[in-house]
Amino acid sequence: MHTGLLGLPYLIGHQLQPLRILFVCLGNICRSPTAEGVFSQQLREAGLEQEVFVDSAGTGDYHIGEPPDERACAAAERRGYDLKPLRARQIQRGDFAKFDYILAMDMENLRSLKRFCPPEHGHKVMLFTEFCSSGPCVVPDPYSGGPDAFERVLDLIEDASQGLLSHVREKLAA
Ligand code: 4NP
Repeated sequence: MHTGLLGLPYLIGHQLQPLRILFVCLGNICRSPTAEGVFSQQLREAGLEQEVFVDSAGTGDYHIGEPPDERACAAAERRGYDLKPLRARQIQRGDFAKFDYILAMDMENLRSLKRFCPPEHGHKVMLFTEFCSSGPCVVPDPYSGGPDAFERVLDLIEDASQGLLSHVREKLAA
């Protein structure tokens, strides 16, 4: 947990948000905004939205400022998640200090993040799928795939988000 004077959590806006989680993929238009939307909703349903700050970013700069991919928005909407207000951004060096967890969708993102990450923050960078209930896997890039690819992304992200939520509950209770 980041703490300021007197060991209190930093004030972000007007709210206490002791944990900060950043989801990262390549373009920040398919997988990581989906993870941001799904996990934010799970936090709201758990009444924990004031406790955790959630954001997403891409390792690449191809889609900066764009909304999520229409296919990702449509697939998410069918399951009750609204991704449309989100906008793509590229990860910044300052994100490694700002966030407590920096969660990569696949091995390529993980390698890019590890290369870019200042060594003192290296422990924060991990695969999001480490929180999945099944064995080792990644969230595969759906950009060149069909509709099934976006459903698979959602299946994996919903599963990993449940695991992450349990982890967050433990952290907040500690
Ligand atoms: P994402 O998907 O990393 O899940 O946002 C992609 C989006 C765009 C590209 C690749 C992957 N692209 O090559 O433009």
